[in-house]
Amino acid sequence: MGVEIVPIRPGFGAEISGVEIGRPLSEEDRVAILRAIDDYAVLVFRNTGLDDVGHVEFSRIFGHVEKMPSFKKLFRSERTARDGKTAREAGPFFVTFGNLTDDGRIVDDPERRKLLAGDRMWHTDSSFMVERAAYSALLAYVVPPVGGHTDFADMRAAWDRLPAGVQARIEGLEGDHCVWWSRHVSGADISEAQAMGMPAARHPLVHRHRSGRTALFLASHIRAIPGMPPEEGRELVAELIEQATRPESTISVNWNVGDLVVWDNLATMHRATPFDDLKHRREMRRTTMRDGAPPVTGDDPYGAMYSGAVEKLSQLRGEPA
Ligand code: OGA
Ligand code: MN
Repeated sequence: MGVEIVPIRPGFGAEISGVEIGRPLSEEDRVAILRAIDDYAVLVFRNTGLDDVGHVEFSRIFGHVEKMPSFKKLFRSERTARDGKTAREAGPFFVTFGNLTDDGRIVDDPERRKLLAGDRMWHTDSSFMVERAAYSALLAYVVPPVGGHTDFADMRAAWDRLPAGVQARIEGLEGDHCVWWSRHVSGADISEAQAMGMPAARHPLVHRHRSGRTALFLASHIRAIPGMPPEEGRELVAELIEQATRPESTISVNWNVGDLVVWDNLATMHRATPFDDLKHRREMRRTTMRDGAPPVTGDDPYGAMYSGAVEKLSQLRGEPA
C-alpha cells in the first residue's frame, strides 16, 4: 500500500489514504505527501486517530512548527478538548478553534461570539505576521451534527483566471494585514481607529508560489493597500476576494472527529462556516508551520507579535493588565 490521492476537484483539494500518519512515515510516503500538497494545496486525512504528539510529529514534515501565544487574555478562557486537556496543557504548539470554554461549556457571550465569527471571513492564517505561515494542520476533536464545515479557495486558479488587465494592475501592489481589522469588520468591539493602530504586516498581493505558479495572497485581514486611499484599497481587496472565492474553485470540507486537514496558506484562503453554535459544540486544534528551516530570528516571533497586540487591545479597552 502507498499514498492514495483522490482529488476533490481537478488540481484542488485531495483526500489522502493508504498511509498511517500517526506513525513514522517512510521516505516515500513523506515525499508523496509533500508533492500532493504542492499539487492540491488542501489534503484531507480521515479518521486519523492522531493524538497531540502525533499531530505535532506529523506536522513537522511540513516545516518548523510554530509556538503559539496564549490566547487566554483574548478569549478569557481556554477550552477542553476530547482528551480533556486545555490548549495550554496540550503544549505550546496548538491553537484551538470552536465554541467551548475551559470547562466545556458553550460560549454564549455575545462579544466573544463576534470575535470567534472572524474565522468565518475568508482568510489565510497568520498573514498578519511578518514571517508568513506556510501550512496549517487542523484536527477535529468535537464536531456539530450539522454545519461547521471549512471552505477553501484556490488562490493559484484565482490568479490564473483574472483578466490580464487586472493582473497587470495588481502585480506590485501590497496589502497591510492586521488580525484586528478582520475582527473589526466581523463586528467585534474594536473600532476602525483602534484596528488601524494595531501592528500589521505588509505582503505582496501577488506572489510566486513554491510550485512555480503565481498565486494571489489575500485575506480579510487586509486593512489597506499602501499608496491607495484606504476605502479604495479595501474595495479592491473585497472585489479580488469575491473573484477568488467563486464556487468553481472552492471546496467545502466536512468533518468527523479525528479528521485532519492540512492546507497551504500560501496557495489558499479558507473560512469556517456557521453551525448552531448556541446549541452544538465544536472544537478543533491546529498546528501552524513555517516553510523550511527554523526562523533565523529566534524561535517565536509569532508569540511576540500576537501577544503584543493582545496586550495593546486590552489597554485600548481599559482592562487591567
Ligand atoms: C483555522 C480556521 C476554520 C474552521 O483553523 O485557521 O480558520 O472551520 N478554522 O475551524
Ligand atoms: Mn484560519
